[in-house]
Amino acid sequence: MKALITGGCGFIGSHVVRAFLADGWAVTNLDKLTYAANPANLDGVSGAAYRFVEGDLCDAALARDLVSGTDLVINFAAETHVDRSLLDPAVFARTDVEGVVCLLEAVRADGRAAFVQMSTDEVFGSLPAGVEAKEEHPFAPGSPYSASKAAAELMVRAYAETYALPATILRACNVFGPRQHLEKFIPLFITRALAGEPMPLYGDGLQEREWLYIDDLVEAIRLIVRSLPASGLARFNIGSGERPPNIEIARQVCALTERPVGLIQPVADRPGHDRRYALDSSRVRAMGWTPRMDIAEGLRRTVAWYAANRPAARGDAAFEAYFRAQYGVRLGTVPGGD
Ligand SMILES: NC(=O)c1ccc[n+]([C@@H]2O[C@H](COP(=O)([O-])OP(=O)(O)OC[C@H]3O[C@@H](n4cnc5c(N)ncnc54)[C@H](O)[C@@H]3O)[C@@H](O)[C@H]2O)c1
Repeated sequence: MKALITGGCGFIGSHVVRAFLADGWAVTNLDKLTYAANPANLDGVSGAAYRFVEGDLCDAALARDLVSGTDLVINFAAETHVDRSLLDPAVFARTDVEGVVCLLEAVRADGRAAFVQMSTDEVFGSLPAGVEAKEEHPFAPGSPYSASKAAAELMVRAYAETYALPATILRACNVFGPRQHLEKFIPLFITRALAGEPMPLYGDGLQEREWLYIDDLVEAIRLIVRSLPASGLARFNIGSGERPPNIEIARQVCALTERPVGLIQPVADRPGHDRRYALDSSRVRAMGWTPRMDIAEGLRRTVAWYAANRPAARGDAAFEAYFRAQYGVRLGTVPGGD
């Protein structure tokens, strides 16, 4: 069986590429190698079953070529950082919406491959306390990132309904673990803590995210892929049910890295920052999936990985420029602000 996996040099994609190769799939990995990619995420991956193609999701001819003869297309390629979507929404519309349409067109032309789109709990926007979003919950995206993911979902749904294209949407909560880009919340806090540097926490830190360890997400994907629909649309929420506030994650990182909590520095909040995400994942749980890793153990493993891979995981010049632009004024290391 042949799979086209896009975004395979990113965080989630690289774990899934490894898992699918281990399961005996022939895998083609299409990745544009944006700033978010890390080819080292696939160190040691080689052999006849694996092919890497550097290219853009939005290249229609390339997408058609790669989809042809493929059994399964899983789309992880995306612009994924909410903070960056506030700085440059257009690239999110292009990759996360146009790119998905491009892939869908290729799948439609091919007429054979099943299509899986990776989406996010953020499409539901901020939820009141006590509410968990089921698969049918209405969209209320609050950021350019989540709006682009919601738009992509609507295109997938339109293709499933209009062309009976077999499609599956996976909505994961926040995922964490080894090989995640340094600028995301948990890796950023771990690497800052390890270096003894201030950890910039947005607002009051009471925003609630649902956290799932990467291996548990991979297992859910493996399970769902085994029974994809022959036609029409399937949707699955994939969450752990564990929803500590951000400040609690920050404190746990301090404990695990043996650094004082005084390193946690509250800074001006992100505009439009959603307060709370929560998924009802009973559909995938009914299929027999259950997360095995609790946050405490997942964080312990993640801290251990970043500690062992610190030189590679520390930022390059582009990251340092991004960090200064995003946090410099907030942390008071760059003049400006009110
Ligand atoms: N990480 C999470 O917590 C999380 C949670 C829910 C959903 N998701 C979704 O899962 C998917 C993967 O997320 P991630 O955290 O691994 O992302 P990531 O930012 O680590 O990796 C994204 C990858 O996509 C590639 N890419 C970007 N634009 C491209 C383009 N135009 N053409 C080809 N490749 C391109 C990048 O080079 C990179 O390798 C995304 O669709 C994201 O929206 C992520």
